[in-house]
Amino acid sequence: MSILITGGAGYIGSHTVRYFTEKNEDIVVVDNLQNGHKDSVQIDHFYNIDIRDKDALQEVFINHNIEGVIHFAANSLVGESMSKPYDYYENNVYGMMCLLDVMKENNVKKIVFSSTAAVYGEPKQIPIMEINETNPTNPYGETKLAMEKMMKWFEQGYGTQYVSLRYFNAAGAHESGMIGEDHEPETHLMPLILQVALGVREQIAIFGSDYPTIDGTCVRDYIHVMDLAAAHYLALEYLRKENKSDVFNLGNGNGYSVKQVIDTARKVTNHPIPSVLKDRRSGDPAVLIASSEKAKTLLGWNPQHHSLEKMIADAWNWHQGNPEGYTK
Ligand code: UFG
Repeated sequence: MSILITGGAGYIGSHTVRYFTEKNEDIVVVDNLQNGHKDSVQIDHFYNIDIRDKDALQEVFINHNIEGVIHFAANSLVGESMSKPYDYYENNVYGMMCLLDVMKENNVKKIVFSSTAAVYGEPKQIPIMEINETNPTNPYGETKLAMEKMMKWFEQGYGTQYVSLRYFNAAGAHESGMIGEDHEPETHLMPLILQVALGVREQIAIFGSDYPTIDGTCVRDYIHVMDLAAAHYLALEYLRKENKSDVFNLGNGNGYSVKQVIDTARKVTNHPIPSVLKDRRSGDPAVLIASSEKAKTLLGWNPQHHSLEKMIADAWNWHQGNPEGYTK
């Protein structure tokens, strides 16, 4: 049987495809290539289709014996979601409706879902636990929470079981340097810092230096993309063995400030990486750090690439080899 990976040509999706392939799983990828890159997936069964095209999706389920779905296909930028909420509801929420409906029609009962720390909004306690209140402060987090709730009701109604993985800040790249992060436009801290080291940008802007943190800049919990990929595999195994749904945070449990990330990148790249202090970016919580004890205990998740140096070094390896990202 095969595992369908939607959005498998995106950043986290492509690393997950790689990981599952290394585990000898038979993989089918569906991606509309709106943000994904065909070159990031080297597999036989790739379909350039949109999950909102139910007829096309149904064809994929007919052509392959799908056991379960790993669902990445979605819009995922907090800032963009504030100015384009319709796009986020249409692609993320309606896309999920289409996918779950086609799964139901084909009697496919397992889904691993790419969720986010953005479902929590401004946290009331650190580290954040899965039982803490969800109160998104932007349409991106709101749509991901709606998708989680949709899965809950589909489980009640149709028996579709799910594992929802709420990631904190994904970072790094596959050690081979063959795949990595390439967004257009890029808004994430780590790739932007490395573009300065590459000479593509002159300086990195630090958004806010008056937060109540160690050095005034925002603190985030960075997690290596291959550790995220491994968690998706363990989540599928959990569904295979345990037959029950659940929600898990995925982070390292360590917080690094924006300035600490820049300093570490200076050491890794041996480049001065000039920075400039700017105003706060709206909607940024001061500190986001996960408790991932639940994933460690119940999924047996054991992140292998803890250090920030390792995450930056792997990302740097990718960016140096592919200074303009994937061939457009
Ligand atoms: N930052 C800068 N300068 C930049 C870019 C970012 O200072 O040029 C700062 C941000 O203000 C933030 C930190 O670096 O404090 C990290 O920002 P990213 O944009 O890299 O990541 P976010 O924490 O905003 O977003 C991540 C995920 C989202 C997820 C969110 C949860 O990318 O998908 O965490 O809050 F929704």
